[in-house]
Amino acid sequence: MKYNLKRITEFNKLVLDCHCMPESIAVDATCGNGNDTLYLARRCRFVYGFDIQKQALINTETLLKENGIDNWQLFNESFSMMDKLINVRADVVTFNLGYLPGGDKSVTTVAEETVEGIKAALRILNDHGLISITMYWGHPQGKTEREEVLKFCRTLDSRQYHVTYISLLNQDNCPPEIILINN
Ligand SMILES: C[S@@+](CC[C@H](N)C(=O)[O-])C[C@H]1O[C@@H](n2cnc3c(N)ncnc32)[C@H](O)[C@@H]1O
Repeated sequence: MKYNLKRITEFNKLVLDCHCMPESIAVDATCGNGNDTLYLARRCRFVYGFDIQKQALINTETLLKENGIDNWQLFNESFSMMDKLINVRADVVTFNLGYLPGGDKSVTTVAEETVEGIKAALRILNDHGLISITMYWGHPQGKTEREEVLKFCRTLDSRQYHVTYISLLNQDNCPPEIILINN
């Protein structure tokens, strides 16, 4: 089995694999411990990573270096700044919302800033690009964030964007969900 689709992270990898090409430019909007950054860097020409937590960037840089990966640049900035800090168009942008696993749970992505981040990603998205947003909404901030992100994504012009919503229908306890935006 190449992908275990019982895990939402694996589902996301399946989608990323359809879009990541050796010449692609990728953005990991939420580096965290660097797992997605590493995944993207292995498949794409270059990956830009963002996180507001210094510790997340240290963890990500360590993971990338341990794996001998050098096609990356990290920013200790909010993802809403990505269109100001990156001078190229991105083919793939991935958001993994919530808090740093194993880190400070009080530092989490928040609704208004996340919507700004998605708007910034739309501004730099290349033609035939992909934005994937994985939402963890078991915590209070996550519920509001999910509602606001869904509300915003529903407003995207259907002539320009194709928005897909992946939800695990028979799972309890706020199972994670994915939104995919293609242009
Ligand atoms: C669920 S974790 C990401 C997990 C990561 N993709 C991995 O593979 O380990 C979410 C991360 O988003 C970061 N974050 C929160 N708000 C942010 C913002 N406005 N811009 C960028 N990163 C943010 C947190 O610091 C946290 O590290």
